[in-house]
Amino acid sequence: MAEFGQAFTTKMSVAYYKDQQWSDAKVQPLAPFSLHPATHVLHYSSTCFEGLKAYRWQDGSIHLFRYQENIKRLRNSAASLCLPVPSAALVEQAILSAIRAVEKEIPALPGALYVRPTLIGTELNIGAAGRGSHEAMLYVITSPVGDYFEGGVRPLKLLIDDENMRSTPKFGQVKTGGNYAASLGSVTQARKELGADQVLFCPGGQVQETGAANFMVIKGQKIITKSLDGSILPGITRDSLLTIAKESGYQIEEVNYSVADLLQMLPDSEAFLSGTAAVVSPVGSLIHNGTIHQVGDGGVGAKTMQLRTALTAIQTGQAKDPWVWTTGI
Ligand SMILES: Cc1ncc(COP(=O)(O)O)c(C=O)c1O
Repeated sequence: MAEFGQAFTTKMSVAYYKDQQWSDAKVQPLAPFSLHPATHVLHYSSTCFEGLKAYRWQDGSIHLFRYQENIKRLRNSAASLCLPVPSAALVEQAILSAIRAVEKEIPALPGALYVRPTLIGTELNIGAAGRGSHEAMLYVITSPVGDYFEGGVRPLKLLIDDENMRSTPKFGQVKTGGNYAASLGSVTQARKELGADQVLFCPGGQVQETGAANFMVIKGQKIITKSLDGSILPGITRDSLLTIAKESGYQIEEVNYSVADLLQMLPDSEAFLSGTAAVVSPVGSLIHNGTIHQVGDGGVGAKTMQLRTALTAIQTGQAKDPWVWTTGI
């Protein structure tokens, strides 16, 4: 299978906002867009997106996982970027029609169809630095995927970056391209110079998240993760895992904690990344100021894998779904 995000299906859905109204979402062949060079998004980054997965269960049926949460988050991101906010019904129509149109292209488990709703400002205006785009396009593309990290489930190596921020204190909760662009320098350097898989952003010495996933520590029967305060993305996987963990008897601590607190916990802890793409990815070591700190025994944590299995079993129809998170489409 191609690397995550580099294979595409044959169709997409598209809706337009113009003259203060949205069109319906229409399915069309996947093809390049033609954008005028003055398009708002190309200058002022008026763009937000979502990432969710559709699964082909063993009986052949197609299911989505908590997609209404993605719709809510996209609408919140749109509002933060002063973009026209599509109704929840329109985003749903765009998502469902895009998936149904490529049903035959959805891979079998353990693969999935990664679904990428995207909203961009399309007004032709290079004098609109100070206001939102009055025109917009919502489109949904889809991509058959396997594992996000090369090498499958393995202990990841993270660099602790206590200088750079991946976003601002309030904009981290917005799923917008600018936040990813802001993290690239740090991630690229960490990969090149230290062979790290990802960067754990800890501005001012306070632990936040990585460039594309939330971060959690398991210590005994406690799960510690940063509280939602606007500076990090409110991950749907994060929320799901905390719900599952609580039910399984873990004590959940959504708190602000420092790099010093983290390093102190590491020797007898597990740590992992959580996200739609990352699912639950174990963290084996963290590099801080040139020193490698092992997480637990540096391997794949047993509790981490239990949580991963519990989550994926619900997503793929192999376990009961007590919170009604999956929807057949
Ligand atoms: C910065 C960031 N944090 C966290 C997440 C995890 O969010 P979710 O679990 O909703 O996929 C993502 C992935 O989309 C992300 O890009």
